[in-house]
Amino acid sequence: MSDVAKLEIDGKIFELPIVTGSENERGIDISALRAATGLITLDDGYGNTGSCRSAITYIDGDAGILRYRGYPIEQLAQKSSFVEVAQLLIWGELPTTTERNQFGQMLTDNAALPWDMRRHFDGFPTDAHPMAILSAMINALESYDLKNLHPTNQEEFALAAASLMSKVRTIAAASYKSHIGQPIVWPRPDMKYVENFLHMMFTVPYNDYVPTPEVSHALNLLLVLHADHEQNCSTSTVRMVASGQANLYASVAAGVCALWGPLHGGANMAVVEMLEQIKASGITTKQFVDKVKNREDGVKLMGFGHRVYRNFDPRAKIIKEAADSLLDSLHITDPMLDLARELEAVALEDEYFVSRKLYPNVDFYSGIILRAIGIPMDMFTVMFAMGRMPGWIANWKELHETPGQRIYRPRQIYTGATERAWVPRKERRR
Ligand code: CMC
Repeated sequence: MSDVAKLEIDGKIFELPIVTGSENERGIDISALRAATGLITLDDGYGNTGSCRSAITYIDGDAGILRYRGYPIEQLAQKSSFVEVAQLLIWGELPTTTERNQFGQMLTDNAALPWDMRRHFDGFPTDAHPMAILSAMINALESYDLKNLHPTNQEEFALAAASLMSKVRTIAAASYKSHIGQPIVWPRPDMKYVENFLHMMFTVPYNDYVPTPEVSHALNLLLVLHADHEQNCSTSTVRMVASGQANLYASVAAGVCALWGPLHGGANMAVVEMLEQIKASGITTKQFVDKVKNREDGVKLMGFGHRVYRNFDPRAKIIKEAADSLLDSLHITDPMLDLARELEAVALEDEYFVSRKLYPNVDFYSGIILRAIGIPMDMFTVMFAMGRMPGWIANWKELHETPGQRIYRPRQIYTGATERAWVPRKERRR
């Protein structure tokens, strides 16, 4: 196979190197194209653009494969804890017992918020969206935590990573508690990552919440499945902000904002809203699918489709099974699960979805699990952010360790007015 691509422009041939990844993915390196030809490439929505070389996560969207640092997601979902997966993503290897214990201790030591930060929650209106609170609090945390973190100082980085991973749970739970007018519950040093979060969410002064193993297992699984997904919208945002040498906290806070939208992390909430609307309106799933196909009011089948997967999202398969078994073990019958199953079956048989290779994605069934655990709907995307934290941190680290890393700065094709002279206001006509 050739390692050079040839491009003909205005009768002249230019040679562009082809780079090959460790899974034999190939890409044309166009970094010298503008200098050589005066032209840039145009790729609206970056659908065909590789923005970096990365050794963290591998996806083969046609085959439905997802691997973190080489390990298949199916194996990690079955065998690993979220904290272990975080260490794998951030530092590249599954931790030894010593490494796991050390990091666990750092998470415990860094779980509580600085005392002064309690007051920040009072500054938000009670109906503030938890994603707004989360991004603002993460940004604020830098002022209390490790100021002027030196990106390549490994000890400082590990401390900041542990602090963020640990405190994101505390902030998430505290924002929920202040939203519902209950006292903030502080983390407990004797509890594991997932249990500690559930404790902070659901303990009330007169009742200690102790999650069942099934609930902890399901939440751990969800976090593992959300932990990274290569250069998606929020991770690219983290890298973009980091490339300007913004600190880790600011970069990750920007990732939270990018995740918020319904086409990205906000889809888990949008799926349940969609199911509720279908139920409330009394239409059949077939009628809803027809509305989607007819593009009525721009309605989409939320939780379906993916830029990279043109096959089953492997995370969706695992989540669907997990939703079934969690609901069974909790003896819950959720009509939304039945509706989701029916909607999936109708869509998967429909020519519109088949021809466009649209399958359920990670968000289609995750909301069913979150509902069963008792997580309120406006916290769903916060849960996604908690899960994605290791991926964002790993990408921030990788970017800083890339030799010769430059600021991210895409170009554009300008389509606006050509040069014109300024006109006094009296003479302006519409
Ligand atoms: N419902 C109806 N039609 C769809 C859907 C959908 N969910 N997704 C894609 N299509 C259509 C789209 O209209 C287009 O049709 P046509 O070629 O006739 O114009 C075709 O399928 C190709 O889609 P696209 O818009 O070019 O795909 P994209 O790669 O730009 O967008 C997506 C990917 C995930 C934003 C989109 O599939 C979507 O909006 N899905 C619903 C929202 C959702 O579930 N998002 C979560 C994504 S997974 C987790 C995450 O990344 O956060």
